[in-house]
Amino acid sequence: MDDEPRPVAEPYWAERPRSRSAPAERRFLYRGELLTFVLDAGVFSGHGLDPGTGLLIENLRVGETDRILDLGCGWGAVGVAAAKAAPRGHVVLTDVNRRAARLALENVRRNRVANADVRVGASFDPVEGERFDVIATNPPYRIGRERILDLLRRASGHLNPGGRLVMVGKGSQGIRFYQEWLERNWPGPVEVLGRGSGYRVLEARSSSSDAAAGPSDASPPSSRSRAARRSAMP
Ligand SMILES: C[S@@+](CC[C@H](N)C(=O)[O-])C[C@H]1O[C@@H](n2cnc3c(N)ncnc32)[C@H](O)[C@@H]1O
Repeated sequence: MDDEPRPVAEPYWAERPRSRSAPAERRFLYRGELLTFVLDAGVFSGHGLDPGTGLLIENLRVGETDRILDLGCGWGAVGVAAAKAAPRGHVVLTDVNRRAARLALENVRRNRVANADVRVGASFDPVEGERFDVIATNPPYRIGRERILDLLRRASGHLNPGGRLVMVGKGSQGIRFYQEWLERNWPGPVEVLGRGSGYRVLEARSSSSDAAAGPSDASPPSSRSRAARRSAMP
């Protein structure tokens, strides 16, 4: 696999990471089932489950038939758990990092998940025109506040009426700022579902009628063609 010299400071959101591959296996129990994952260098939390991600999974409320988006899936912990919790629903896992998306696909297969697919791409590009009951994310805070706000603005337009954006973050990542922003701009109520070790899990619910409207300052949709923006795995 990718065996070029390791760059000095490669960000975890690199599209094509060049870090030397160092695969590892990790397991965790979810709803009584032991899930198995392969992780690797060059992706977010490539050594084990991030504590914020763990809190997100613990607090994620998912209906059996829900359509769920795991935005910025990394190696796929959230998406695989969500697919198990929604056996008659469907999960789309997306990531801009191709190595992460490859690992997520491997982990979907390892855990015998049939109700999920993995796509490569940034932001909501891989799911243009699609809506979900739940968008779950541990967002890539390090890409910067404006880009995270752009994700939040676009999220509402991808939720079904009554759908929910569920996100985790900690104080140093500005989670209080994002909570306040959602409380001011999101079309429905915002709730804190869980807290722990400095992290907060926020749930922002779309009102039953105006999910399509989005926050008051939502960006206009881009005009790039769907085919050019979306790339399925593998
Ligand atoms: C904080 S990590 C969370 C990964 C995984 N969900 C987890 O909790 O372990 C954020 C993920 O978002 C991905 N990412 C970064 N920028 C992105 C973008 N613009 N669109 C989609 N995903 C992005 C990164 O590659 C990374 O895998």
